[in-house]
Amino acid sequence: MGTLMTNQTLIENYQKRIKRIVITEEEIKEAIKKVGAEIAKSYTGRPLLLVSVLKGAFVFMADLSRAINAPCEIAFMCAKSYFSGTSSSGEVNIIMDIDRDIKDLDVIIVEDIVDTGRTLKRICEILKERKPHSLRVVSLLDKPDRRVVDFNPDISLFTIPDFFVIGYGLDCAEQYRNLPYIAEYNQEV
Ligand code: IMP
Repeated sequence: MGTLMTNQTLIENYQKRIKRIVITEEEIKEAIKKVGAEIAKSYTGRPLLLVSVLKGAFVFMADLSRAINAPCEIAFMCAKSYFSGTSSSGEVNIIMDIDRDIKDLDVIIVEDIVDTGRTLKRICEILKERKPHSLRVVSLLDKPDRRVVDFNPDISLFTIPDFFVIGYGLDCAEQYRNLPYIAEYNQEV
């Protein structure tokens, strides 16, 4: 009985933190369909590689890649950022690198959210040194109010104000990635 109560409290606390749905499953689906078609239309016949930055972009990558009706390869990388305070200088360590050479490929980085912009700015610098034919960034979400470096994605599906969001791959302390929609996280509970 005690364990049951504890489980119920856990679930209640989990649900209380989902403040409100910001972007519905349907809205995400529609936007991905449109962007996937745009990417396929701009396909030049060159080898195309989609690179996703783990973990947050794993759901977006799965759906976007299936909306692109053109030949492409998929690769994953994992990065950890070390930044102190509001300083825009910092370090991004590649914890897991992509498993192929990207020279002469058209590369599209598939990202969950651009916040301060620091992580993707560094990742783009790192990948550009490897001489891809082209490098573009598609981000599901963009929070331009939070930007501290000069970086913008080439395509963003949704622009949101400065609040913390969860779901559709995005987490808070590794939870909520499996929500099918984007929600605002309730920090007051
Ligand atoms: P940036 O270097 O500040 O742009 O950080 C980007 C990373 O921070 C994203 O890839 C996310 O993993 C994380 N992040 C930024 N904002 C949010 C948010 O609102 N919810 C969940 N994760 C976030």
